[in-house]
Amino acid sequence: MVCIPPFCYVFSLPKSVGILSPLLCLLCYPSVLLLSPYPTGDIQGETLVDIGSGPTLYQVLSGCEVFSHVVLTDFLDVNRQELRRWLAGEEGDFDWAPYLQHVCQLEGRSPSAWREKAARLRSVVSDVLPIDVHQASPLAEGTLPPSGADCLVSSFCLESVSPDLPCFTQALRHIGSLLRPGGCLLLIGALGETYYMGGPGVRIPVVPLDETQVCASLRASGYLLIQLCVYRLPADMKVGVDDVTGIFYAKVKKVAG
Ligand SMILES: C[S@@+](CC[C@H](N)C(=O)[O-])C[C@H]1O[C@@H](n2cnc3c(N)ncnc32)[C@H](O)[C@@H]1O
Repeated sequence: MVCIPPFCYVFSLPKSVGILSPLLCLLCYPSVLLLSPYPTGDIQGETLVDIGSGPTLYQVLSGCEVFSHVVLTDFLDVNRQELRRWLAGEEGDFDWAPYLQHVCQLEGRSPSAWREKAARLRSVVSDVLPIDVHQASPLAEGTLPPSGADCLVSSFCLESVSPDLPCFTQALRHIGSLLRPGGCLLLIGALGETYYMGGPGVRIPVVPLDETQVCASLRASGYLLIQLCVYRLPADMKVGVDDVTGIFYAKVKKVAG
């Protein structure tokens, strides 16, 4: 993990990843740290919005303990349906139990608390909404409190849905309109990625970013950088479904005004 002072703190990966894929482990761990109310206590409030959730839940497994109102969003109805199925307690395409157990452990709880975490998540998710980050107002009007969300989280969305860097920067500005001044955005994304395979034969183009571009785009879109961590993927973690070279984790605040 490369840390860029003074914004970044050091963290090492948990030694045992058990049955979890190392990549999902990588995703969960920083999310827990970035969302932790300790030691800074700077992430708080009622409403957390996940931008471009896809069919996945790992990005809100810790945030659901901090916020009482969580909104999931995606452009595609098929992804929103998969999320709704899990929220309704129906059999989904994916078993989230090992991930719930893993995040419980990262939070210092027993893995056996995973059912409580699942129940907590189901109880705080209030909506699964359509979103388009290329619109100046990405969500339908009136879906969030008038002051905006207290916190946004977004993982691997903006760079994979933007045709180029200006469009990525503009999407950052658009989602900022959903956040209250002073609220936090936790942005997780791919570095150096030009494509990923969305399914057999479905090659999805991605804007290849480096950390300097990420920081410049965040600044240009009205955010103040608090922390940035970069993880360079070792060769044995490259699984052949993309050409990603690293992952960035940014914690930023929306500048007031
Ligand atoms: C690479 S996936 C990331 C999903 C999830 N956040 C994760 O970490 O696995 C990108 C997601 O962006 C969604 N998406 C596509 N176009 C979008 C748009 N214009 N606005 C918001 N989300 C979009 C896709 O449906 C997809 O679920």
